[in-house]
Amino acid sequence: LIRQMYKEDSSQYLGKEVKVSGWVRTVRASKNFGFIEMNDGSFFKNLQIVFDDSHENFKELSKLVISSAIEVVGKLVETPNSKQPFEIQATSIKLEADSESEYPLQKKKHSFEYLRTIAHLRPRSNTFSAVFRVRSLLSFAIHKFFQERNFVYVNTPIVTASDAEGAGEMFRVTTLDLEKLPKDEYGKLDFSKDFFGKETNLTVSGQLEAEAYALAFRNVYNFGPTFRAENSNTTRHAAEFWMMEPEIAFADLNDNMDLAEDMMKYIIRYVLEHAPEEMNFFNSFIDKGLLERLQNIVSSDFGRVTYTEAIEILKNADKNFEYPVEWGSDLQTEHERYLAEEVFKKPVFVTDYPKDIKAFYMRLNDDGKTVAAMDLLVPGVGEIIGGSQREERLDILEKRMEDIGIEKESLWWYLELRKYGGVKHAGYGLGFERAVMYLTGMSNIRDVIPFPRTVKSAEF
Ligand code: 4AD
Ligand code: MG
Repeated sequence: LIRQMYKEDSSQYLGKEVKVSGWVRTVRASKNFGFIEMNDGSFFKNLQIVFDDSHENFKELSKLVISSAIEVVGKLVETPNSKQPFEIQATSIKLEADSESEYPLQKKKHSFEYLRTIAHLRPRSNTFSAVFRVRSLLSFAIHKFFQERNFVYVNTPIVTASDAEGAGEMFRVTTLDLEKLPKDEYGKLDFSKDFFGKETNLTVSGQLEAEAYALAFRNVYNFGPTFRAENSNTTRHAAEFWMMEPEIAFADLNDNMDLAEDMMKYIIRYVLEHAPEEMNFFNSFIDKGLLERLQNIVSSDFGRVTYTEAIEILKNADKNFEYPVEWGSDLQTEHERYLAEEVFKKPVFVTDYPKDIKAFYMRLNDDGKTVAAMDLLVPGVGEIIGGSQREERLDILEKRMEDIGIEKESLWWYLELRKYGGVKHAGYGLGFERAVMYLTGMSNIRDVIPFPRTVKSAEF
């Protein structure tokens, strides 16, 4: 209801009796009257309630503890001289659920580190209320973007027998009792006795399955949880995160970049339009300049540079990097951020990486050394999207898998797609949490996931 009062025509409520319910954010009381700021969950802003000593529970109300749940009946009146446009003059305030005085989220400012230890309560704070509403909107904006373009939403499996990235960073799923097996046999488990009769793991990406569907529906997307047992204890890596993966047929790397650029601009615009209060909050308290930056991005072209050009830029940079820059090694976060923040000062696609640092499925370029890969790097975050044109030529794909040591039998169905109308196709994965970080200015991935799973942490 509070959202409707603020966002829709408040005049239909003004001067009338209304009933609202929600949680107490602050209470101030003097001898004869008091103010409660309450939040009903529907909107970022609070609503002010005024009460006086004509209430028989006046004493109780004056001592209400933060986070108590109340139901208020009263008249909505305009308050032209205060910072809020209106308030409720309460005729009755009923306590629905008490709160204990040691409630951990008091009015003072808490550090994000501390708030992580109370992940079950932090959505009640301003910052996290804003973060998680934006996260929700962003998810909707992504669906809206792809549905408006007639992409088919595919649900790829969570439990799988394949390693889509070939990086060996999977969480094994098993019904075998590992503890009953001697330690030195750990690597030689007999998976024929397992539930699925073979070794299985949590998916690292739904791409391979999405490719199969793109070759039927032309344009598809997958959006779901992915898991990586990557031992990266950084502010940008989670063990469980969401990825949004479109896959398009009859398309090459340029089509892929155009799609990614359109999508990024669309979802930024959507969130700016649908969460102005939250975005203003981030701009004021989390990342000054956020709004200006996002608005610029929506109205300008993204940069595009090849990996080889990027290496030249980095080599000539007037800056000492911690990790050396040389053709053939992967870009580190410091390099990615330097390119996006200092060279291009906007999102930039880096394309055509050396084949040896990229996944087996990427299409080999004519030079025989690089693949048709693209990473989108953005200021503040670094890599937010990773994608490529896929290798559609069966012989080259098989040769590549052989060279790397990936068993062809394990991906027989993936190879078969190349035999039956396996036209050129491409796709990418957007790290959903990184997109939330980018849009909110939040700097730790742990603060954009309701209950984060990272190295050595699964408290909730
Ligand atoms: O670059 P990645 O590994 O690409 C793929 O998995 C492809 N199969 C996607 C595709 O082409 N369909 O991951 C894609 C994106 C990264 O750019 C990054 O934003 C995010 O997923 N990501 C992570 N986000 C949080 N925590 C992690 N551990 C992440 N690993 C990747
Ligand atoms: Mg990547």
